[in-house]
Amino acid sequence: MSKELNVLLGHSADNDGIEEYDNPLPTWWLGLFYFTIVWGAVYAVHYHFVGGRSQAGEYDAEVAAYEAAKPKTSTAGPTEGPDAITAGKALFDTNCVSCHGPKADGVDAAGNKSIGPNLTDAEWIHGGTLADIEKTITVGVPEKGMITWGPILGPEKVKQVAAFVHSSGGGQ
Ligand code: HEC
Repeated sequence: MSKELNVLLGHSADNDGIEEYDNPLPTWWLGLFYFTIVWGAVYAVHYHFVGGRSQAGEYDAEVAAYEAAKPKTSTAGPTEGPDAITAGKALFDTNCVSCHGPKADGVDAAGNKSIGPNLTDAEWIHGGTLADIEKTITVGVPEKGMITWGPILGPEKVKQVAAFVHSSGGGQ
């Protein structure tokens, strides 16, 4: 390189006494600099055209993976209205008759008083609104023999059987 090195530019008077050289950048530094430019161009071409990747595509793929991994919404059916009551009746017949009787009135098939109380009258130990009934079924009354149904049936089926109990006469 013919240029003379380490020559002060001599404008320190304008720059609060700061001196400056005008030396060329080191070759290794320039090499790195040009390499990053070439790399950027190659990468951009690869990313967009060869690899066919895009931020939107990556986003869609992540959303699709999330949708595939998340628990499926229950197929238990409606949780309120007449269809819920019908589904709730079937659940009651399977799970609750043994203690509350086939008619939910606290009388067993042989006509004797059953373990569980009458659910069709206006007398409620734990409240007769739909929300009360749902809560009693979910948490149960384990110390009195009423099972904690929440983890067994899951929230949708609890809502259905609660809808049935609520509709059985005594609901408030
Ligand atoms: C193993 C017996 C048993 C089974 C099975 C059972 N229950 Fe009960 N249930 C009871 C008992 C005992 C009580 C009374 C709890 C108390 O005295 O606090 C009760 C209370 C209730 C109450 C509250 C009544 C009130 O007066 O507040 C509801 C509602 C109820 N059960 C619904 C159900 C439903 C719905 C099912 C089926 C998913 C079911 N039970 C299954 C024994 C049972």
